[in-house]
Parts: sequence; C-alpha cells; structure tokens
Amino acid sequence: MDRRRRRPARELRGLLLGGVVLAATAGAGALAALGDAPIRGLLWVAKGADPQRALGSVPTECLKRPADPALAARIEVGRAAFRTPVLLGGQAARAGINCETCHRAGRSNPDFLFPGVSGAPGTADVTSSLFSTHRGNGIDDPKPIPDLSGPKSKLKVAQDPAERKLEPFIHGLVTEEFDGPEPTPATLDGLAAYVRALDPAACPARAREPLTVALLMADARRALAAAQARAAAGDEPTAMLMVASARSRLGLIDERYAAPALAKPRADLRAADRALADIQAALHDRRPEAGAAIAGWLAGSRRLERELAARQSASLFDPARLAQAAKRRLPG
Ligand code: HEC
Repeated sequence: MDRRRRRPARELRGLLLGGVVLAATAGAGALAALGDAPIRGLLWVAKGADPQRALGSVPTECLKRPADPALAARIEVGRAAFRTPVLLGGQAARAGINCETCHRAGRSNPDFLFPGVSGAPGTADVTSSLFSTHRGNGIDDPKPIPDLSGPKSKLKVAQDPAERKLEPFIHGLVTEEFDGPEPTPATLDGLAAYVRALDPAACPARAREPLTVALLMADARRALAAAQARAAAGDEPTAMLMVASARSRLGLIDERYAAPALAKPRADLRAADRALADIQAALHDRRPEAGAAIAGWLAGSRRLERELAARQSASLFDPARLAQAAKRRLPG
C-alpha cells in the first residue's frame, strides 16, 4: 500500500512552552493543550506508552571506548553534540529535540510520536517541512527510527571511515533536515566518531536503566570535560556547544523539580546553570579564565548532585509521581 500522500499546507503557529516557543501545526490542535506539559518529553511520547518506560528509563548505551585517547576525546565531543538541541535549528531546537530524542542513548525510540512528523510510534519523517525548510518534500514519509547501535551491516549509510560517507550524511541531517547552523569541524568529526563507536558488542548486559539525576549529571560532566579539552585546543565555538549540551541535561533535571517543596535544590540547580551561561560568555570572548571556571564547576557539581539526589524521590524522577504527571497530559 502506498501511504505517501501530499502533506496539506499547514500554517505554523507558536505556543509557549516552558519558556520556548514551540511551533505546532494548525491541524494538531491537541498540541496546544500540552502547553502546560510537566515534562517536555511528553510532547513526543506516543499515547498509551508506558510513562515509566518512555520517560522514566532509557536504553543502556552501547559505546565502545577506544584505547586511543585522541579518538576517545573526539567521541566525547560527538556524544555531547548528540545530546543538545542547540546543534539543530528551527522547530526541532525550539521543541527541545536533539539527536538523542529519537536515537535514545544511540539506539532507537519505539515510543517516539511527534504530531506532523511521525506515522506509527517509533517513526519519523526527517524530511518533514516541520523540521526543515530545505528538505520539506511535501510528502508524509515517516520511516522507522533506526537503532544506531545495531549491526553496522543493517545500517544504510556506510560507516567505514575510509569511505567518508557518514560525515556528509550527518552534515546534511544537521544543516538541511534540521535547519541547524553549520557545525564546527570538530563537532561534525565528533558526531561521526560517536556513531561509529556505537557497537552491538559493547551493549551492557541489562537493556535499560532508570533515568536518574546521576545519569544526567554524568552526561553534563562528560560534556564539560569535552568543553575543557576543546577550549584548551583553542576551539571555543565547539567548547560553547559542549557547555550548551551540559546545560540542556540540567534542563532535563530542572523540569522534574518544579514542585514547591523542591524550591531549594532547584534554585541551586539554576544557579549552576547560570554559572555555565557565564562560562559560555567567557568562551565566547576567549577570556582565559574559562578553563579554570569549567574545572571549578566540575568540582562543585558533586555537591549539587548529592543535594538533588537526596530529594529525587520527591521529584518526577520518582515512578509514581511520573505516572501521575503523565496523566495530566490531555489526549492527543
Ligand atoms: C525526529 C527523529 C530523529 C532525529 C532528531 C534524528 N534522527 Fe537520525 N534518523 C531518524 C530516522 C527516522 C532515520 C531513518 C531515515 C531513513 O531511513 O531514511 C534516521 C537515520 C539516521 C542515520 C542513518 C542510519 C543508517 O541506516 O545508516 C544516522 C547515522 C542518524 N540518523 C544519525 C542522527 C544524528 C547524528 C542526529 C542528530 C544530528 C539524528 N540522527 C537525529 C530519526 C531521527
């Protein structure tokens, strides 16, 4: 059966969501009702999905760590870039979508459903005009989100570094399919290195793990370590993206600490985020203190993590509270 059909002309309108303007298609009125979604991720979770699976846990990452420290550093740059909406542009960035939204922990996402972009859950039309002004092809052709950590032989784009196929493919994804700004050379190189390092042989024994403060803080610290390395190499633009990645991980913690009883840890989290914004400004101005400021932030992050973790059970990281919050989502 040919499911391809002309995409009706849709007018984009913005709705304010957690401080960002999310463009919703005029046809998907239900999206407007999600303006108060307690967790942004609820916007792209299929109706009927188990909230604990979709929002309370993630697949474990199948990342092969190389012995060569230079390659390991490039992979870390890609890993952080993979986890920030700032890499992308347009509607995807505004909605908070990043590579990892669809390829969770470098895998796939059977629960992904974004109105106007997905067909069945777990599919996306990456040439959707909602995400791309370049490639919107006027045709609804959602495809299953591939597991990037599956056997390389099952993937369409050749990953042999000698073939140089992956870099142009990812470049097209970022700049055309997702309307993002031109990535820095180190970012593009890192993304390709990260995708190549995903390997079924490196999958941990357990398939999934709970999404926790510890997991997101570990991501943030790895992104900042990558920022430090890029700053030391004089590559401030890439370092700034790495800091943006850390900030977006803090944002995922912040939205789960909205309860009034959590005001104190949330205020401290926000102060830590402001410190990262200052670091971005220092990198932007190529001020030499940026490196020391990142080191200071990393040292202080353990205390912040302990404070947040101590209250985790009162936050939306708690399965029962998460289930309750997910119910507040109106049928879409
Ligand atoms: C909205 C969901 C979505 C986002 C966001 C997304 N992808 Fe994908 N990705 C897909 C889908 C769907 C396909 C399959 C497309 C096809 O089959 O034509 C795909 C394909 C790929 C492939 C090719 C896999 C193969 O078979 O060789 C790679 C590599 C990839 N994505 C990497 C990325 C990177 C890097 C990012 C971030 C810049 C990203 N993706 C963001 C949904 C997404």
